[in-house]
Amino acid sequence: MKILITAGPTREPLDPVRFISNRSTGKMGFALASAALAAGHEVTLIAGPVTLPTPEGARRVDVVTALEMLEAVRRELPACDVYISCAAVADWRPETCSPEKLKKARMTGVLRLVPNPDILRTVLPLKGDRLFVGFAAETGEPTAEAQRKMRDKGLDMIVANDVTQPGAGFATETNRVTLLFPDGTRRDLPLMPKREVGTAVIEAVGRLRRP
Ligand code: C5P
Repeated sequence: MKILITAGPTREPLDPVRFISNRSTGKMGFALASAALAAGHEVTLIAGPVTLPTPEGARRVDVVTALEMLEAVRRELPACDVYISCAAVADWRPETCSPEKLKKARMTGVLRLVPNPDILRTVLPLKGDRLFVGFAAETGEPTAEAQRKMRDKGLDMIVANDVTQPGAGFATETNRVTLLFPDGTRRDLPLMPKREVGTAVIEAVGRLRRP
């Protein structure tokens, strides 16, 4: 399969030195890319600002903002069979980005934000017979909210995890996830290294493609 993976956070600047972002490190997305390559698939990895080395054999496209990530997904999606959206896309961006560093004395304490587009939902019209897989990081029992996101975003599978659990979520080497499917079935995976989670997700995608 030709697999498109997005990974890491996005970064939304308000001036040349300041930005809003989130705690994603890209580890889960890069682990997915490694697992997909090891299984013999072709991988295009669209990465937000992360400090991880490119998995050998992946074609990497670096982006910074959510809007750049959306453009990169639009460009790369037509050549792919599967899109796995693992990136923690910033939900909001500053309404304006100043070309010069904002002066502390002139800042009002109010930052005006505008919503970023939902990348998965925006490219849904391009889906065709491609498989779309999403991730849902929640705080608390994730499955009901994840089911809702899977329906809302037209996904074939969603990988849900509670980021407050020990050993799961951001910046950890391990993750504990549940795979959810549109027919209501679910697979709870044990706590395991992100690379093994990646292998399980890629195998599940393979089964969806060729049941
Ligand atoms: O942020 P949320 O929990 O809705 O994210 C769920 C899924 O949607 C993830 O797969 C994420 O990569 C994707 N997403 C997106 N564009 C956004 C926000 C999230 O594609 N602006």
